[in-house]
Amino acid sequence: MSRIIHVYGNWKMNHLKSDVINFISKLSESVIELDCKQGVCPQSIHLSMIIEAFAKKGILVGSQNCSHEAFGAFTGDNSPQALKDIGVNFTLVGHSERRSIFNEGHEILNLKAKKALECNLDVVFCVGETLEERENNKTFDVLKEQLAEGLKGISKSDLSRVILAYEPVWAIGTGKVATPMQAEETHQFIRKFVSEELEFIAEDVFILYGGSVKPSNAKGLFEMANIDGGLVGGASLKAEDYLELCKIADRTMK
Ligand code: PGA
Repeated sequence: MSRIIHVYGNWKMNHLKSDVINFISKLSESVIELDCKQGVCPQSIHLSMIIEAFAKKGILVGSQNCSHEAFGAFTGDNSPQALKDIGVNFTLVGHSERRSIFNEGHEILNLKAKKALECNLDVVFCVGETLEERENNKTFDVLKEQLAEGLKGISKSDLSRVILAYEPVWAIGTGKVATPMQAEETHQFIRKFVSEELEFIAEDVFILYGGSVKPSNAKGLFEMANIDGGLVGGASLKAEDYLELCKIADRTMK
């Protein structure tokens, strides 16, 4: 059987209510006949709208972030348990914007991943190096640390609900996409590392690529043996582009 290609859209802090309504209405029936795995991560204030529209159509709904605790005095945070309760399927943890703008380090990300899994939310755990780290040949060391520290103490059965996303910081929102070979080499490294050093099962773990994925470059990336789809920012905002990416993913699986 061929691998399942994922197309997960990360809308970040974009879209007004009218844009969300527009996206929902443009996603035609044909989407649900596609075999690729689809997901969308809107802002939290739009989660309920997306759940209502997509939950029964097999499109997964993700949160872009969640709290490290289920409940309590954490003003402004979203409880993973409450997210699960309204029908959210998964949450991103460790997106580079959370790491750099909100100063989220290994410790808090590890707590978030654990709490999300405990509350039955699946996790898309994001890792990636900066341009400076790549130029100094530190890519693999950075990834090893982010993975080992961020996922430590998570049981083998919980790890089976963790998808990894490799998102080189220099490629996010910059229009500079990693070449398929560059991404493949890194994905191969990640797959080997997490199965040898953490308790992932090499052939079962999904590793998505993120960083300026768009319809014009998706095919080359999705065709790579170790790339199981994309975590897509900018190109997932428009329903037409998102749909096109899903169709490309679907063709790649055939
Ligand atoms: P981009 O963002 O596709 O706009 O580069 C990807 C991401 O940040 O997840």
